[in-house]
Amino acid sequence: MTILVESDRTLVEEVVTVIPGEVASVSSLDELDAYLYEHPDECAVVLGASVPMNLATRFADSVRIARPATSVILIRKRLDSNVLANAMRSGVRDVVAVRELEPLVDAVRRAHTLAEAMRSPATAPAETSEHRGSLITVFSTKGGVGKSTIATNLAAAFQSLDQRVCIVDLDVQGGDVAIMLQLFPTRSLSDIESLRGAIDTTGVLALLTEHHSGLKILAAPLHLEARDSVSPEQVSTVLQTLKTAFDVVVVDTSPAFDDLALSAFDQSEYLVLVGTLDIPALKNLKMATGTLDLLNMSRGIWRLVLNRADAKVGLTPAEFEKTLGLAISSSIPTSREVLASVNRGETLVASQPRHPVSLAIVDLARSLVHGAPEDAEPPAREPRFFRRLKRVT
Ligand SMILES: Nc1ncnc2c1ncn2[C@@H]1O[C@H](COP(=O)(O)OP(=O)(O)OP(=O)(O)O)[C@@H](O)[C@H]1O
Ligand SMILES: [Mg+2]
Repeated sequence: MTILVESDRTLVEEVVTVIPGEVASVSSLDELDAYLYEHPDECAVVLGASVPMNLATRFADSVRIARPATSVILIRKRLDSNVLANAMRSGVRDVVAVRELEPLVDAVRRAHTLAEAMRSPATAPAETSEHRGSLITVFSTKGGVGKSTIATNLAAAFQSLDQRVCIVDLDVQGGDVAIMLQLFPTRSLSDIESLRGAIDTTGVLALLTEHHSGLKILAAPLHLEARDSVSPEQVSTVLQTLKTAFDVVVVDTSPAFDDLALSAFDQSEYLVLVGTLDIPALKNLKMATGTLDLLNMSRGIWRLVLNRADAKVGLTPAEFEKTLGLAISSSIPTSREVLASVNRGETLVASQPRHPVSLAIVDLARSLVHGAPEDAEPPAREPRFFRRLKRVT
């Protein structure tokens, strides 16, 4: 269920048709208070355009502390940097424009996924004496910032450092790792089903496709209808298995906090957060880091990567760092060669190792290989449930 606060009946009707699942609506914040008192498990609150900004942010601020599993989503008539900055500061999870309500679908889904993740225990990876490689998840909640570009080039960088590497494409809706490497896989994540529950090293290795450079990839599902067949539990087992067979497993993700990304987070030695110098990307990263904090993902494993760092767009890297409260670990310049290498089906790191983009990514890879013992905390191995308890008490 989702609760909408809006006094304009026309907007209520529009919003109700867009939001997936059941929607209850009230017309004021007072009525919302009464509703939430009766429904303590409600996890998605949409504040319509008729709720004044100052009241909306005050409400979001109180919800952030009193009900961390509840997401507040804001609908505004205009989206400008002022609105986004205020929303970010108060803990609003998403802001959507009245004239384009479609992003509400994903925002509400994210709210439900987050609440579920915070309520349900995650399975802790079994401790094993087997070889354990590092899992590095490349993530951002904004599309097109360069996640797949960085994931593929980072994998090539690890390879250049003599690491055995595998890339897993968890972007089940629009994964393009295979396309970027001009591969035509015959097996993919959706074939996990064919292993009939016996997900072992031999079975998982059989699902990989090899690039001529030697990089191995586990491709995203190849057919539309197969996308829903991949479960987070299966992904979790596959990632554990790959960690026993490779030194480094690089995971590319979709621009959403979906269950599959959460499975990867739970086993990640490092989380590479990708941003670009624009307000929407900054807003998305701020919200993403807020959610990661709520999930108690240790900040010690985050690495902030600024892609297209040389863009002259008014926002500076220093402002970017200040807003996020995170230091930039790596800055990757813009280059036409990035796309040119994709068109050749190669990574830039492998084809032009001296290129500034390649040098930056290899440096990042080196810090992830060699930085681990000194400055990274080991991944949290307890179930997420226990981590949450620790935060509350
Ligand atoms: N540093 C860069 N310089 C120039 N072009 C870049 C750079 N990084 C990424 N690009 C280009 O930007 C586009 C988007 O990159 P990419 O597909 O890696 O983003 P993404 O975050 O994975 O997107 P999605 O969310 O759709 O999966 C691509 O065309 C890519 O070639
Ligand atoms: Mg991508």
